[in-house]
Amino acid sequence: MSNSTPYTRDLGGGLTLRDLASPADVERVAAFNAQIHGPETEQTWATWMRSHPYASDPRRWLFVEEAAGGRVVAALCQLPWRLQYDGVPLRSGEMGVVGTLEEYRGRGLQRALAARFDELLREGGFLLSHIQGIPFFYRQFGYEYALPLEAWVRVELYLVPELRADEGPGATVRLATLDDLPALMRLYDHAGTTLGVGALRDEAEWQFLMGKGLETEVGAETWVVEAPPGLIAGYFRTWFQGFGEGLICGESSLLSADGAMAALRHLKRLAEARDKPYIRLNLPRDSALVRIGLALGGSPWEAYAWQVRIPDPAALLRAIAPALEGRLAASPYAGLTRAFTINLYRRGITLRFEAGRLTAVEEGAGGGGDLRLPPQLLAPLLLGHRSLEELHHLFPDASAGREAAPLVATLFPRFESFLYQPY
Ligand SMILES: CC(C)(COP(=O)(O)OP(=O)(O)OC[C@H]1O[C@@H](n2cnc3c(N)ncnc32)[C@H](O)[C@@H]1OP(=O)(O)O)[C@@H](O)C(=O)NCCC(=O)NCCS
Repeated sequence: MSNSTPYTRDLGGGLTLRDLASPADVERVAAFNAQIHGPETEQTWATWMRSHPYASDPRRWLFVEEAAGGRVVAALCQLPWRLQYDGVPLRSGEMGVVGTLEEYRGRGLQRALAARFDELLREGGFLLSHIQGIPFFYRQFGYEYALPLEAWVRVELYLVPELRADEGPGATVRLATLDDLPALMRLYDHAGTTLGVGALRDEAEWQFLMGKGLETEVGAETWVVEAPPGLIAGYFRTWFQGFGEGLICGESSLLSADGAMAALRHLKRLAEARDKPYIRLNLPRDSALVRIGLALGGSPWEAYAWQVRIPDPAALLRAIAPALEGRLAASPYAGLTRAFTINLYRRGITLRFEAGRLTAVEEGAGGGGDLRLPPQLLAPLLLGHRSLEELHHLFPDASAGREAAPLVATLFPRFESFLYQPY
């Protein structure tokens, strides 16, 4: 671990805000986080800080310590993700491992840590930030529910039919090895093209997930589906731990119907062997496993959500110009020339389209506007999580003029997204 420019800020009252400057800091922060989030979690934080190719960046593990004695009293971290938005690569900083010692709560320490977190977002060109976080708390920092999280279907084991005597084996399943990495990466990237917003994953992250990551409490095994034997047709991953009592399958490539049935049968056998009462498919709603799981009688797909913040809306809109232009080109608005104004009430953003190209994104005062939106609703709309009609249902101040409404629906449609974790 090396941090060439350790950060230190005096918060007053005998407290200092810092980032990791030494291996001893790694141990202290892991121990503190374990005190807040449970002793079983310590190894996870230490492994991320020491061995993850990107989460180990020492500048992104922030903590507050007592200047006298150095006791850690609050902490959070920024986990850097690379996402794709309709094919456009973006960086998002996940706020994670947030905690304050009980006797220090309510003194604004998380507010101070969040301010440093924001500086790091700006310095790193992160256009989004997301958090799994406790309900409600993060709204005060500008986060809103905007991407599916813990989306799942419960499939009872008895619902998964055994192979009939007259059926061929179809597809077979085996544990993946590092030799399978090129195929796994190709399958992962291909599955990502079906998601409006998804997480990009490089070889270093794959190596971590199939190596050191197995030692963490979010460790998962990777299974390869072969059809016919010897030919890799897909993969899925199963977690050792996680929410609920079921066996969690929380990632899969695109699978054929045969491949998905073979995967479900394998999941059933694993669940039986591991004394798990049901299969929990934590997967996109449109995935083959979810669709077959539902057809077999699984419980309805339901989802919590990631809370997302857009630190600089104009910068994000500039970055996703290729996606917006693509949507226009595929619509009756192909070749559009007009200004389109989003009124975020306290300020406005004007998108200037010329012959279907987004030539400028300008910030100005609020007022008027083709689309009127309370600022916190920009994330769910832009990320395809909710349509304007759905938002309007609960927030009458989210609306579009009659003439602009179809254009809003074209630029900001609903779509399916899912974030597979890079750690
Ligand atoms: C939630 C937690 C991190 C808050 O830490 P904290 O240091 O007390 O937070 P701050 O003092 O910076 O609070 C910031 C603001 O949130 C308010 N706040 C504190 N806890 C809150 C809660 N649970 N819900 C809503 N608001 C809360 C504070 O009053 C303060 O508001 P103000 O600035 O308008 O006065 C802390 O209670 C904690 O560690 N809880 C246990 C672990 C946990 O749940 N972590 C979050 C996992 S995602």
